[in-house]
Amino acid sequence: MTSEGEAADSEALFGGMVNVGAVFRRGALVERPAPRTVHALHSHLRALKEHGFDGAPTPVGLTADGRERLTFIPGDVALPPFPRWAMTPDALRSVGSLLRRLHEAGASIPVDTSVEWPSDLADPEGGTMLCHNDVCPENVVFRDGRATALIDFDLAAPGRPLWDVAMAARYWVPVLDPASAAALHPDGLDAPARLRILADGYGLSPEQRSELPEAIERATEICRAFVADRVAGGDPVYVRALAERGGWERWDRVQAWLSARRETFTAALFDESGF
Ligand SMILES: Nc1ncnc2c1ncn2[C@@H]1O[C@H](COP(=O)(O)OP(=O)(O)O)[C@@H](O)[C@H]1O
Ligand SMILES: [Mg+2]
Repeated sequence: MTSEGEAADSEALFGGMVNVGAVFRRGALVERPAPRTVHALHSHLRALKEHGFDGAPTPVGLTADGRERLTFIPGDVALPPFPRWAMTPDALRSVGSLLRRLHEAGASIPVDTSVEWPSDLADPEGGTMLCHNDVCPENVVFRDGRATALIDFDLAAPGRPLWDVAMAARYWVPVLDPASAAALHPDGLDAPARLRILADGYGLSPEQRSELPEAIERATEICRAFVADRVAGGDPVYVRALAERGGWERWDRVQAWLSARRETFTAALFDESGF
């Protein structure tokens, strides 16, 4: 059923938290609130395409009232609670390789430094290439069981490629204690083994492997601060999500679990026998 004012070939798209209720498919296009960085971001997305990366929407422009228009990417997006098909080893490996292709194309695209890129989920170490920063399942489109495109570049900012891998690991491994993981993910996911699969899918270097566990801890802190900011500002979506997902105790538990496992993750990332 379409609501008043919506054409028949138009539907609200759900999956995100920031723009909930404000993202629409209109035929072959998506219309959504434009991020502050829209002009620089659209140039970047066009440049990615010119560099051979086909795993992101193509920007089409702005509507008269300033919303952005991008191509709709057909496929499947996993929404919580995450289905098993999205959490298979092959799916995870494909997320790693999609991210690698994004970074390979992005590495030679100069970042527009006149723009104030959002700091919300940005790499605190900074960097010379544009990272996506929010590679959660809701922002990845799958086709035939493989990750084919990244969407929602709203929080993109300069950073190290490692930072995107750390952020992706949080959601896709997931790097969470088993009780926290059980809330939204299928049972029985082996975090160290899956971190290794993601790293191998990406083709992470030995140096990056040695830095990854700590980067995940840092990314977790940054995500916690992101939620804290929104909760302090009274954002109802984040206030409710925090309450439903176990409050700050859950974040405490995740962080304690993570820091106690730094060596376990490092060992899995370097295990000669592989997985
Ligand atoms: N270009 C696109 N192609 C396909 N699906 C899309 C596209 N843009 C958004 N979606 C769908 O809409 C959902 C919400 O869009 P998104 O832009 O990620 O919102 P938010 O900013 O709130 O996270 C996504 O999870 C995805 O399912
Ligand atoms: Mg999103």
